[in-house]
Amino acid sequence: MKLRWLGHSAFELISNNNLNILIDPFIRGNPSCPLKINDLNPDVICITHGHADHFGDAIELARKSDAIVITNYEISIYLQREGINAIGINYGAFVEIQDVKIKMLEAKHSSSFDFNIEGGYAGNPASFLLEFKDDLKIFHAGDTSLFSDMKFVIGEVYKPDIAMLPIGNIFMMDPIDAAIATKWINSKYVIPMHYNSFPSIMQNPESFKSLVKKHAPNCETLIPDVLEFIEF
Ligand code: NI
Ligand code: MN
Repeated sequence: MKLRWLGHSAFELISNNNLNILIDPFIRGNPSCPLKINDLNPDVICITHGHADHFGDAIELARKSDAIVITNYEISIYLQREGINAIGINYGAFVEIQDVKIKMLEAKHSSSFDFNIEGGYAGNPASFLLEFKDDLKIFHAGDTSLFSDMKFVIGEVYKPDIAMLPIGNIFMMDPIDAAIATKWINSKYVIPMHYNSFPSIMQNPESFKSLVKKHAPNCETLIPDVLEFIEF
């Protein structure tokens, strides 16, 4: 499989069967992402929670590409009313699409439709474990604080090969907590996300890399440029 970071928490993942998955498709309002909506053609869109910097352009992308959206139950209802093919799941459940198994897991954060005037409850915030058949397992943490089940559930039970962790502080883990999360999750690779897209979340990914070296010496920190493909 291969993947590329689209800035903030947005990633594009492409399976060996060429299934194209977007996670947290924040494109148009994402200051780090140079792409246009028309540059992307997802088969599947995963949304971790309702905040605008994660929900992003899900509706427009799903309409244009006829993509299936995997998200929590409450967001799926909202999307279905918009005519989108959305599958609502909850913590612990998975759906299988072609050669990828997508499981929803916990995140400690909040979730609301903060992008429209009515606002409103958008279910519980989630993380995702994506299991690529005969290939890697990828954990995308969404927005979250450090929590002990990163060790006891994600690390010990699910054992991802790659973890994508937010390091922005203010709404989630800072780089120190994210380095401890890296140790607990015990993946081969970690990719920092949710930093430097806005003034309130400025972080140096190289400092995070040094902290990972100290807390989780067996894990390699990957700091991709935006749009740079990494092949595994
Ligand atoms: Ni959020
Ligand atoms: Mn966020």
